[in-house]
Amino acid sequence: MQVGLSPTLDLQGGTLRVVLLTVLLSGLMLSLLRTVGLRAFSMASETYTSGTHSAAFVTCPNETVAKDLARGIVEKKLAACVNIVPKIMSVYEWQGKIEEDSELLLMIKTRSSKIPALAEYVRSNHPYEVAEVISLPIDQGNPPYLKWIGDVVPE
Ligand SMILES: *[C@@H]1O[C@H](CO)[C@@H](O)[C@H](O)[C@H]1NC(C)=O
Repeated sequence: MQVGLSPTLDLQGGTLRVVLLTVLLSGLMLSLLRTVGLRAFSMASETYTSGTHSAAFVTCPNETVAKDLARGIVEKKLAACVNIVPKIMSVYEWQGKIEEDSELLLMIKTRSSKIPALAEYVRSNHPYEVAEVISLPIDQGNPPYLKWIGDVVPE
């Protein structure tokens, strides 16, 4: 019994060691793969930091003003892209009266650092006494699109 039990224990111990070693090695491999994978992922997402770019909004009285402003903004590299949204209806208070006007909306995509220069350009080239220029930071988006904004608009 003593003699028979001993090799069985040895065999079990050996199998256990092989199993433990296998588990340990696959664990190491998995964590290695995970690290490499995470690094590759973070390198891909490192191309955009939340808020680096912004979407700005400007209301315009008609298509001529909207197109002229949009073209000037893009030509001066104050934005990569301006979408003109036609036929918006605006309700607002002006000098104590409720006004209702048909307007167009410029949806401007640019670097956040360009917003002050953009606001200055709009102020100087817009027919309104108080032109609307508001911006919101872009949190995330399609990385190649966000990269394109940065490529077109200089820092
Ligand atoms: C557009 O608006 C501007 C500024 O208010 C004005 O001078 C111009 O005549 C308008 N153009 C058209 C086509 O309505």
